[in-house]
Amino acid sequence: MKKDNFFKINKICCIGAGYVGGPTMAVIAKMCRDLEITIVDLDKNKIDLWNSEKLDELPVFEPGLCEIINECRGKNLSFSTNIKEAIESSQMIFIAVNTPTKESGIGAGEASDLGYVESCARDISLYAKDNTIVIEKSTIPVKTADIINKILNCSSSDRKFHILSNPEFLSEGSAIQDLLKPNRVLIGGDNEKAVDGLANIYNRWIDNKKIIKTNVWSAELSKLTSNAFLAQRISSINTISAICEKTGANINEVSKSIGLDKRIGKYFLQHGPGFGGSCFKKDILNLIYISKFYGLPEVAEYWEKVLDINNWQKKRISRIVVNNLFGTLKNKKIAILGFAFKAETNDTRESSAIDICKDLLEEGAYLSIYDPKVDFEKISQELLPNENLINDNMNILSAKTIAMAVDDADAVIILTEWDEFKDICWNDFSEIMRKPSWLFDCRDVIQLNSIDKGKINLWKCGYSI
Ligand code: NAD
Ligand code: UDX
Repeated sequence: MKKDNFFKINKICCIGAGYVGGPTMAVIAKMCRDLEITIVDLDKNKIDLWNSEKLDELPVFEPGLCEIINECRGKNLSFSTNIKEAIESSQMIFIAVNTPTKESGIGAGEASDLGYVESCARDISLYAKDNTIVIEKSTIPVKTADIINKILNCSSSDRKFHILSNPEFLSEGSAIQDLLKPNRVLIGGDNEKAVDGLANIYNRWIDNKKIIKTNVWSAELSKLTSNAFLAQRISSINTISAICEKTGANINEVSKSIGLDKRIGKYFLQHGPGFGGSCFKKDILNLIYISKFYGLPEVAEYWEKVLDINNWQKKRISRIVVNNLFGTLKNKKIAILGFAFKAETNDTRESSAIDICKDLLEEGAYLSIYDPKVDFEKISQELLPNENLINDNMNILSAKTIAMAVDDADAVIILTEWDEFKDICWNDFSEIMRKPSWLFDCRDVIQLNSIDKGKINLWKCGYSI
């Protein structure tokens, strides 16, 4: 066994060039210029975009990302589809592939589909030439390291693999800042030297006190728990938004009042159209599955409620729109402002806009959708995944400007909190809308006193107006 070079790390590979792999490795490359980092992916089209000269074509939009790519790409950061070569030459390999909810078979609709993670483990087992530290960056169910371990350590070769859990806590839209200044880095592992090998990389720019070392299972479970607790807060505040609308209590005053209690804290108390994104729903479903798997149905039911409330909030909004537009949306144009699941990202996965738009389409509405970072192809894939001739569908149009979306619309629905939606003069815009015109502010971006009553009817989530 080549013990000497086991923890000497100069080449890193990351499998998965998505929303996590791309930004995470870019930041490591920026902060550790002596490390050579290769990000690999099966998706050639994605890798081509990462390698594109045009930085506005990167597959992931994140503030600050293209500057880092520009700084490091071609120096100590590269993107490739050659998985074999990258694995062969790396001493440390991150697995940052997708772990979606299983669509069929045992646990369908709840359990994680670990097929992509398994495939990475098999590739590593096949191609790794030497002792290797393998890091779970993907979010996975507790005990997944056991599966990876079984695949990696079943061959008769004298290579040794150490599996660490190093879950990623970045939020899209602020990923670069989250990676540069994380509130903690979690490393789970039972081999002290391997854990230190990874800790020493983070330690180049992150204080030791913020690097938490645990056993593998705690690290795996902490990630699911963290997302479940965050999502739970959003569902909680959204239930209160509905009470505010009925009673005249002001949701922002309530959030502020409770958030000032340090035990509660002020973050993640923003009401809205329900949480979206690729993580919360998937990870709570995973927690629900694990709870059932370990014979804890009450625990499963508890977390199911967080998802139920999220669905209820989206349905509640669709219903409010339909009711205010006299119970039907047939032949009515609705402008949708914002399709991404939050501001500052081009990601639409599980965006609340998808379910709300689908409800409105079902009611016969004609939707004109504007989002500054999401193109029509993505919107139509989300709304009409099975249709090939998207352009023939006359009920959805992508608007190039806010004005085009709003022109002749009966109603506008704000579904993402992009900054450019905050300063729109609705008194002027109401002139180009059909009367009576409605503005549904689901993200609390409109100042109440900026609207002249009589020009446009305003509904604001969490307010009784
Ligand atoms: P993503 O879909 O954007 O990227 C995953 C990439 O992995 C894809 O490009 C896919 O082609 C590639 N891939 C899949 N199998 C592969 C294989 N065998 N070999 C090479 N490439 C392969 O996903 P993401 O949003 O980056 O999430 C990745 C993981 O990180 C998930 O487990 C997710 O739960 C977790 N996570 C995501 C976020 C987030 O904000 N998106 C935050 C923290 C953790
Ligand atoms: C989340 C976790 O925050 C992050 O730590 C984890 O690594 C990945 O999952 P992300 O999904 O990128 O990050 O974004 P986040 O900021 O958590 O927002 C998720 C959803 O919740 C968005 O739709 C957002 O609009 C919504 N949200 C967030 C609220 O409705 N209210 C809030 O107060 C915060």
